[in-house]
Amino acid sequence: MADNGSILVTGAAGQLGAVGRTVTGLLLERGLPVRAMVRREDDRAAALRAAGAEVVVGDLLEPADVSRVVSGCRRVYFGMSVSAGYLEATVIMAAVARDVGVHALVNMSQMTVSQMSLRHTTPSRQQRQHWLGEQALAWSGLPVVTIRPTMFLESLLLFAGLTVRDRGRIELPFGRGKTNPVAAADVARVVAAVLADPGPHLGQIYELTGPRSQDMHAVAREFSDALHREVTYADIPPEAWERELHREGLPEHLTEHLVTMGALHRAGRYDRLADGVERVTGRPAMSVRAFVALHAEACGGRRS
Ligand SMILES: NC(=O)c1ccc[n+]([C@@H]2O[C@H](COP(=O)([O-])OP(=O)(O)OC[C@H]3O[C@@H](n4cnc5c(N)ncnc54)[C@H](OP(=O)(O)O)[C@@H]3O)[C@@H](O)[C@H]2O)c1
Repeated sequence: MADNGSILVTGAAGQLGAVGRTVTGLLLERGLPVRAMVRREDDRAAALRAAGAEVVVGDLLEPADVSRVVSGCRRVYFGMSVSAGYLEATVIMAAVARDVGVHALVNMSQMTVSQMSLRHTTPSRQQRQHWLGEQALAWSGLPVVTIRPTMFLESLLLFAGLTVRDRGRIELPFGRGKTNPVAAADVARVVAAVLADPGPHLGQIYELTGPRSQDMHAVAREFSDALHREVTYADIPPEAWERELHREGLPEHLTEHLVTMGALHRAGRYDRLADGVERVTGRPAMSVRAFVALHAEACGGRRS
């Protein structure tokens, strides 16, 4: 079958980074047919349909659902929310993609995988599942393109938005560690570019960061510049952050992942600079300042 059928985008409703939702929009803008997979019928599904996508409902942990939604598609974006069943979903997708004969599978992973090996994993089960998932996909022999973003700017905004609004402070346990978060919109631009013309990208691993690796004091200065008011950084004890995450009642899998991410930041492991966004899309990655200016409301607004 030729590659001109629908492109399947999983996780298309979008929750945090909403990479799948943005990818759907970008592909539709290019005039490409998209099958958008969602977990349930809701307003987000209706919006995807209104935008021109073929919306299909299914569970990525149910092989029969995955088989049904992949059937007829030769290009697939596979991504879903951080969750305990991630590896299982990855292997189900691999088995189905082999069965269907997918020509390009774009797999969402994480940049931390670049630093992992059999003797050096991290305590985050999410990160381990991405690491194992990448290996399973390599064993599958499928034509894969691997996307390894660092922390999303959307995550940073989620962690910092309220305290910036209420106290003019980013309060995180990142110590003096440098970081270089990437906008999920930039990640989506990379994924969409690959899906539109997968050939040159097959077998590639794209590491994605923002344009500048800097410590959290410098990140806070970018918030200040964007919001026209002073924002500072307070390094908080990791235990205090963990208590806060537990208080918020997040799933244990996610809490464990975030605690690990904080510890890795503190240890300098997010001090990375990669050119994947510009290399694939021809445009540089968005800065913290530009991102915060776009999302000023989440930080209590911008002073004129
Ligand atoms: N956030 C970061 O800082 C960061 C950094 C690097 C890499 N990543 C990776 O990015 C991925 C997350 O991407 P994202 O933020 O774009 O995702 P997202 O916005 O959280 O959306 C993912 C979608 O997956 C759907 N989903 C979850 N479980 C499903 C299931 N069993 N069956 C069908 N659909 C399911 C969710 O549906 P509902 O909304 O209906 O529940 C949601 O709409 C993860 O692989 C993560 O490791 C994230």
